[in-house]
Amino acid sequence: MKMLITGGAGFIGSNFIFYMRKAHPDYDLVCIDKLTYAGNLETLASVMDDPKFHFIRADIADRSEMDRIFAEEKPDVVVNFAAESHVDRSIENPAVFLETNVMGTQVLLDVSRKYGVARYHQVSTDEVYGDLPLDRPDLFFTEETPLHTSSPYSASKASADLLCNAYHRTYGMPITISRCSNNYGPYQFPEKLIPLMIANTLADKPLPVYGEGLNVRDWLYVEDHCAAIDLILEKGRVGQVYNIGGHNEMRNIDIVKIILKALDKPESLITYVTDRKGHDMRYAIDPTKIHRELGWLPATKFADGIQKTIRWYLDNRSWWENIINGEYQNYYERMYANR
Ligand code: NAD
Ligand code: DAU
Repeated sequence: MKMLITGGAGFIGSNFIFYMRKAHPDYDLVCIDKLTYAGNLETLASVMDDPKFHFIRADIADRSEMDRIFAEEKPDVVVNFAAESHVDRSIENPAVFLETNVMGTQVLLDVSRKYGVARYHQVSTDEVYGDLPLDRPDLFFTEETPLHTSSPYSASKASADLLCNAYHRTYGMPITISRCSNNYGPYQFPEKLIPLMIANTLADKPLPVYGEGLNVRDWLYVEDHCAAIDLILEKGRVGQVYNIGGHNEMRNIDIVKIILKALDKPESLITYVTDRKGHDMRYAIDPTKIHRELGWLPATKFADGIQKTIRWYLDNRSWWENIINGEYQNYYERMYANR
């Protein structure tokens, strides 16, 4: 079995590579990554010398390069994690989100079809469903919820999902799609809420909470997401969408307070800043389908996962300090200086 994993030098893709190495040591894994600002080869250091792992630096939107790689590697399965993934950056500059998330997906679908891959899995997001109101805790996203996107990021991810469905229906391609809620855990790029708040807390810097911090996200430990994708690849039905989430809704402000408490820092570090444009209020996944059909349930409780994650950032300071001391500083200035 040869599995081609795109975006494997990013947060979830790298965790998926580590997960698959353990769960299926007999698989050959090929990772394609463009190494954008979010991709980091240091993350993959522990597998780089593994004879059953192969890294290729390439852009999924580069058709001739993808054709060459697929002709040479002949993968059985493709799992597409590669994406521009940060909502705030999509508000600043939507174009690259369409190039990678939409056109890149289309290129991967075309070459997967040409070389007859047995399964193409698209890693999508709960953001394609838009958001839910805070005063309707009875509402959840199911796989039947209409797509209703808010940001250029979510619009690009929804477009990619529609292309996947079209390739399944039109060409009979063996496609599955997963839509997961917010992930947290090791190797998450420090522009995202949890690692950003951990890094700022450790530096005694202000913690920029958007709006009033009342927005709700449904948090899942990254390894549970990886296990769910592995199950979908093994037992999922082609042409199907599977939602992934662990019924763990939290307000942003409460997450920030948990981090402050764990690191024994004062709440006076919290700074309320101008809200994100078009900010989605609440995400909440109904994971009934993946539980009933495939038997998936999350293994990590948030109370444990967040402590493990904070511990990881404490133990791996050089990994994220290298990032925040580089080009990322310009991004931070641009995004937060006059907010
Ligand atoms: P990330 O930004 O940490 O990593 C993305 C990776 O893709 C990076 O290594 C980057 O170099 C690579 N990449 C970007 N453009 C590329 C291109 N054109 N060609 C090849 N590689 C390219 O993102 P993440 O948080 O790990 O998210 C991975 C996937 O999971 C994305 O598709 C995202 O939409 C989806 N997702 C993320 C979450 C979350 O909470 N982070 C939740 C649900 C779904
Ligand atoms: O739901 C899945 C999605 O989760 C993924 O598809 C995206 O790739 C991933 O980035 C994530 O999107 P969010 O926008 O929910 O994540 P982010 O970490 O950027 O923000 C989480 C919440 O915290 C959101 O309500 C905005 C808020 N926030 C974020 C940052 C970076 C702040 O209040 N302050 C901040 O500085």
